[in-house]
Amino acid sequence: MSTRFLDACRGLPVDRTPVWIMRQAGRYLPEYRRMREAYSFLELCKTPELAAEVSMQPVDILGVDAAILFSDILTPLEPMGMELDFVPGPVFDNPVRSMADVEALRKLEMERDVPYVLETIRILRQELAGRVPLIGFSGAPFTLACYMVEGRGSRDFSIVKKMMYSTPEIFHALMNKISDMLIEYLDAQAAAGVQAMQIFDTWGGILSPGDYERYALPYSTRVIAGVRGKGAPVIHFVKGAGSMLDIVRRAGGDVLGLDWHVNLGTVRDMLGPGFAVQGNLDPTVLYGPPRVIEAEVRRILQENGGRPGHIFNLGHGILPDIPPENALFMVDCVHRHSIVR
Ligand code: CP3
Repeated sequence: MSTRFLDACRGLPVDRTPVWIMRQAGRYLPEYRRMREAYSFLELCKTPELAAEVSMQPVDILGVDAAILFSDILTPLEPMGMELDFVPGPVFDNPVRSMADVEALRKLEMERDVPYVLETIRILRQELAGRVPLIGFSGAPFTLACYMVEGRGSRDFSIVKKMMYSTPEIFHALMNKISDMLIEYLDAQAAAGVQAMQIFDTWGGILSPGDYERYALPYSTRVIAGVRGKGAPVIHFVKGAGSMLDIVRRAGGDVLGLDWHVNLGTVRDMLGPGFAVQGNLDPTVLYGPPRVIEAEVRRILQENGGRPGHIFNLGHGILPDIPPENALFMVDCVHRHSIVR
């Protein structure tokens, strides 16, 4: 089995820089779009054989160094009582707005409420047969609260911020409930066989550093402390965190995910040897011609400068209209131009 990815998570030397792509299973692959002609997104998530097949697609097609569970950060919210639909963006018909709404959220029993997630993991570990490791994931408490309170994606997230500032007791009660759920959810994923976990905080960067520290950090810290040290390294990705990585790092974890607004080398100098890093190619670079993709991949590898503990990735998810051959070319460039000490 290739141990590149897990070794890099632990800051150990590797033969080549490992690479995977956030949202690597999805619409940019014709093989995925074909499956979506027959099934809805939620049907794919809830049918373990199909979800496992989708997870395997980028492993087979791109040659990435890790597989990621096919699911969504929002799926565990459904059994808590949130009425989830994708139209195609996510929508909850019953957003959380009051203390009564928070109190009505149910506690999950993992084997009863998300059996399809655990079964997908078990199938994947068999199908992967040790070729590459399997990553599990969840949303971070703040990002999940954003969707639960807004009821959908948003430009400025004014409803959740209004709750945060005007009725903090409701906001904190919600964050506590989400965090409790996440610790058990990620634990169940690890018990079912995931070998690493990524926590996606897509919206953490909409907070000022002080607000992140007050309203988001304590909960992400609790989730990471609750799942870390059980064998699976934790990757913590907060999009838009460039100006507050000194605060975000305090949440802990083994790997800090970086978006493309930061220089990876500068961040590594700041972090020191305690953290591995993941990132951080601008996802839109994959629209460019091969020479541009190659130059940008080499720039990032040079910024890292051969330091152990770098996992190559995009700085956010791959976009749905990227030509798959460009993604394949990027993976190949990372492997060819790796600088390893
Ligand atoms: O990375 C992978 O390949 C694993 C699967 C995965 C999905 N979503 C599948 C998906 C993962 C890790 C996610 C995470 C996720 N989901 C995040 C965090 C990462 C990020 O991109 O910021 C967020 C914010 C969501 C919520 C979500 N799910 C949105 C906003 C949308 C609609 C917009 C979009 O990108 O399509 C989804 C739907 C979704 N999740 C799709 C996939 C493949 C598209 C479904 C389809 O139409 O087929």
